[in-house]
Amino acid sequence: MSWAPSRTSSKIRAFRYSLPILGVATLFPLVLILSYWAFGATSFWRLIRNPALPPSNGQHMNQPQSTLDLDLSVTETATTTWDWQRTTIPNDAHVHGFTVFDNIYLRNGTFYVVTEDAADLPPIERLLSRPLERKPGVDTTPTNEQLQFITPGEAESVLGTRLTHIQGFSVIIYDPSQFMKHFYHWFGEIILGTWRVYSHLLLPQPSSTASPLPFPQRFILPFISNEEWRDRSGMDGPLMRAAFPDAAIQQATYWEDLKKLGTTVAFERIILVDRSAAHRHPFSGLWFKMIAGTMNISAPQDFWNAVRISLWRNILTPEFIAYNISNPSSLPLVTYISRQGSGRRLTAEDHDGLIVALGDLAIQGVCEVQIAVMEKMSLVEQIELASRSTILLGVHGNGLTHQLWMPPSSRSTVIEIFIPNGYVFDYEILARNMGHRHYAVWNDTLLTYSEGTYHKEVKYPDGFHGKTIPVHAETVTRIIRERLAG
Ligand SMILES: *[C@@H]1O[C@H](CO)[C@@H](O)[C@H](O)[C@H]1NC(C)=O
Ligand SMILES: *[C@@H]1O[C@H](CO)[C@@H](O)[C@H](O)[C@H]1NC(C)=O
Ligand SMILES: *[C@@H]1O[C@H](CO)[C@@H](O)[C@H](O)[C@H]1NC(C)=O
Ligand SMILES: *[C@@H]1O[C@H](CO)[C@@H](O)[C@H](O)[C@H]1NC(C)=O
Repeated sequence: MSWAPSRTSSKIRAFRYSLPILGVATLFPLVLILSYWAFGATSFWRLIRNPALPPSNGQHMNQPQSTLDLDLSVTETATTTWDWQRTTIPNDAHVHGFTVFDNIYLRNGTFYVVTEDAADLPPIERLLSRPLERKPGVDTTPTNEQLQFITPGEAESVLGTRLTHIQGFSVIIYDPSQFMKHFYHWFGEIILGTWRVYSHLLLPQPSSTASPLPFPQRFILPFISNEEWRDRSGMDGPLMRAAFPDAAIQQATYWEDLKKLGTTVAFERIILVDRSAAHRHPFSGLWFKMIAGTMNISAPQDFWNAVRISLWRNILTPEFIAYNISNPSSLPLVTYISRQGSGRRLTAEDHDGLIVALGDLAIQGVCEVQIAVMEKMSLVEQIELASRSTILLGVHGNGLTHQLWMPPSSRSTVIEIFIPNGYVFDYEILARNMGHRHYAVWNDTLLTYSEGTYHKEVKYPDGFHGKTIPVHAETVTRIIRERLAG
């Protein structure tokens, strides 16, 4: 993709660009003077146009085009016309709060969308927000301090002609830390939603022939200082390094550096992620989740696979992957994530009853059973367990985020226990994205929703977060048998 501004230019500007080239060889001045004398002014400038500039460090996404496309030919007039690359949304990869942009500009902390007609693009409030905490009474409606639409004709007067190019794919998470520093919010909403909308670029090709999407080169968190994006349980940092080993995670100091440069930053491709904008989607009133709107954007089946496999490869051994994950002859693993050491939990009696019933399944050779206390396990142990599991079972809670690392199959299942009548969509939405079947359990009642159907409401009855959640063990083991029988 050609994305650097190209232009015709005056002698003066041409000379400015030629200066670094002159500097590299001490013999050049002499050669230049001689050539000028020999060929005359016009041919002289032609001789040194399109010089081979040093290759850039960034990786290009499509055709590798590593030089600035500067046309240094001399024109008779002194006027300069930059042909600004228009800002576009490739393949309409956009839903409220998640937008892929090509050729978007940033100057002094404000985004500029260069377009002939702003009406062709979504309105600003679907793109981003004022970066404030979400609280009653706080107005996050964006202003022109966050983003402006300008025409190509206005661009040079607003953006100047000094450009800093940031190549490849950048993920810009335009939020304060409020709902960022949590394993579920980070991976289950921000990263998963990002990947779903980004994966829309692979459509409409069948996923088998589509080339894989380039991984991001950087995540930029403009309003996060001092590592405040990290979760308390310490999962997000190391797992990001495994899933995206080549990506830097940049915070507010990076953003401030770009501002202080005083240049216009030209991003080759970004996805702009904004929680408050995401919550403006109509589906937000149905699911109350940041990624609600992304459910209305199509993505290839198992679009998440690339991230899951990257994480596996960078944590697990090849032998583990070959023998423990991809091996269809091994006994399926049912992992019960016990929360008995934390706030929201089963009654002691029902927890014990569940363990006995699961033990019976193992004795009968239906499956292997693991009882996991995630907070007592190392990160590697947690990922090993999740990646080997066919069924993940537990009281509503963060541990169920591990379904992200569980391989999807016709049997893969998430069983989430709620206090009867309680319902929230956090882990159900993950399961829908992953391709795992999701069951909610209200003691002896099962609820499951096939594609296109949904539970009617979010509900937090008394006891939702309490220590006396009941579960009827046979109801759980019945569905496990059914699912594993395929
Ligand atoms: C950059 O933006 C800040 C407000 O965020 C403003 O105070 C400052 O004057 C701007 N600087 C320039 C050079 O426009
Ligand atoms: C969902 O997507 C379709 C197009 O794919 C669009 O027509 C419809 O308006 C979207 N629904 C919402 C609520 O945004
Ligand atoms: C398969 O998983 C089990 C249980 O985690 C482990 O003991 C075993 O070493 C693994 N096999 C390989 C080849 O890594
Ligand atoms: C849970 O279901 C079982 C089986 O139907 C029933 O005996 C028990 O009373 C129920 N527990 C609660 C708290 O409703």
